[in-house]
Amino acid sequence: MVLFNVSRVDTTPFDGQKPGTSGLRKKVKVFVQPHYLHNFVQATFNALTEEKVRGATLVVSGDGRYFSKEAIQIITKMSAANGVRRVWVGQNGLLSTPAVSAVIRERVGADGSKATGAFILTASHNPGGPDEDFGIKYNMENGGPAPEGITNKIYEFTTTIKEYLIAADLPDVDITTTGVTNFTGPEGPFDVEVFDSASDYIKLMKSIFDFESIKKLLSSPKFTFCYDALHGVAGAYAKSIFVDELGAQESSLLNCTPKEDFGGGHPDPNLTYAKELVARLGLGKSEPQDEPPEFGAAADGDADRNMILGKRFFVTPSDSVAIIAANAVDAIPYFSSGLKGVARSMPTSAALDVVAKHLNLKFFEVPTGWKFFGNLMDAGLCSVCGEESFGTGSDHIREKDGIWAVLAWLSILAYKNKDKLEDKLVTVEDIVRQHWATYGRHYYTRYDYENVDAGAAKELMAYLVKLQSSLSEVNEIINGVRSDVSKVSHADEFEYKDPVDGSISSHQGIRYLFEDGSRLIFRLSGTGSEGATIRLYIEQYEKDPAKIGRLSNEALAPLVEVALKLSKMEEFTGRSAPTVIT
Ligand code: G6P
Ligand code: ZN
Repeated sequence: MVLFNVSRVDTTPFDGQKPGTSGLRKKVKVFVQPHYLHNFVQATFNALTEEKVRGATLVVSGDGRYFSKEAIQIITKMSAANGVRRVWVGQNGLLSTPAVSAVIRERVGADGSKATGAFILTASHNPGGPDEDFGIKYNMENGGPAPEGITNKIYEFTTTIKEYLIAADLPDVDITTTGVTNFTGPEGPFDVEVFDSASDYIKLMKSIFDFESIKKLLSSPKFTFCYDALHGVAGAYAKSIFVDELGAQESSLLNCTPKEDFGGGHPDPNLTYAKELVARLGLGKSEPQDEPPEFGAAADGDADRNMILGKRFFVTPSDSVAIIAANAVDAIPYFSSGLKGVARSMPTSAALDVVAKHLNLKFFEVPTGWKFFGNLMDAGLCSVCGEESFGTGSDHIREKDGIWAVLAWLSILAYKNKDKLEDKLVTVEDIVRQHWATYGRHYYTRYDYENVDAGAAKELMAYLVKLQSSLSEVNEIINGVRSDVSKVSHADEFEYKDPVDGSISSHQGIRYLFEDGSRLIFRLSGTGSEGATIRLYIEQYEKDPAKIGRLSNEALAPLVEVALKLSKMEEFTGRSAPTVIT
């Protein structure tokens, strides 16, 4: 038994340790400053209060990005010093964000213990490496991100912190091998358990989906499949799930070795950054050498995001959640007794609203950020939810879940093809077009202006807030730009009152709602680590089956023109084009 002591280390506050939409994200260079991570971790312990921290079982792991290994050792030593009873670490420090949520909710430790919370080490889809981003966030006992009440407290503590506790003499724990290491501190035992990163998560997935039917689909020579982990942590799950459990070919896996710097790439599963997958699926600039697979999917760094592609076909995340909701009861055993309700974030297209109406389901529109779904799920109000930002998930955990979304799509494909595997395959594109024919189509696009001067971005938003209050002025401008675009019938700054706890979140983006159901939305990203990112979301609803087959950029061109003129985008930002279009 190794003994350790507790040291109190003097420190002073750092500016800017305010957790954003999803924790604290900064450049690695910021995080490696002496005391920087320590201050944030101690502030978290202080915010949770001694009562919750003493005796706690904490999960500490993440997407494996650069600086994770050092951070795990630091957090372990600080946990020991703060009276935590045990720390659980995924092997090699790897756990996807959804797997952390699953581990908190489902895992039972070697000694029968259950986790009370987690430090997740990730900056999600931001690049990694010595010159890139690191991040940390705290998840609660329900498996979901800490609510604003807690993150605000954490921030307050970071502004006044004077000391932190650390077991500086605790030896580094070997996180490469599974097993339990026991230590003893001034107040008693402290254990670190290193466990297999994938098994709890796989067990959960098997309890949700019909693996046999997916296996059948994957074994059909007509069905070809490709999964790109973009060198993120999804790679630690992909082989076990898709190859070992479901029988996909090993060659179906792209970039499935987790790397500290994501191979130098930007681990964000969208049409811009998942270049290799996009090319393979026949959506790149030139035709691929081989016939594209029938189905392709990608994940972000921490594997909570997903992108779904068919052969030469992109499924927008907003359509994806609507299609999953529409088919869940038939295709996914976990939902066979019905959906409790569905929810989407405000900027996500209204495709899900139409499904909810048709199926007579409870429906919620929440601000951007997965944490807003958690309360609904805990209250039994929501089963399936999704966001335009490539996040889809369900109440099986309290995070969005990239691999879950892929399994949901494979389940739908398996269901639609169940008696047809010998005939012509029902493809991803067929499923989406059929959905549009039934429910209408929401043409949708998002323009991102990344790393814009923060002052300029604020001014643009302030201008739009002001403009929004006069509909006649708005409509006059629109009419001057494109007289063929419908009128704005309502505009506001989105505010959300949580139906469960009554809490209010204001300033959640500016909405322009048009008479014909179109919407323009402007908001500032809450996840960047430098400058500001302006997001412009553009959506148009088309019910007429004769008009649902247009190219999205052509259908949306008039609205785009209106949005750019209305917001004076170029004037404020100096940008004549967005950095990324999704
Ligand atoms: C993270 C959250 C998502 C959210 C997204 C928004 O990924 O987990 O729930 O949709 O950030 O990012 P943004 O940059 O638009 O604030
Ligand atoms: Zn992520």
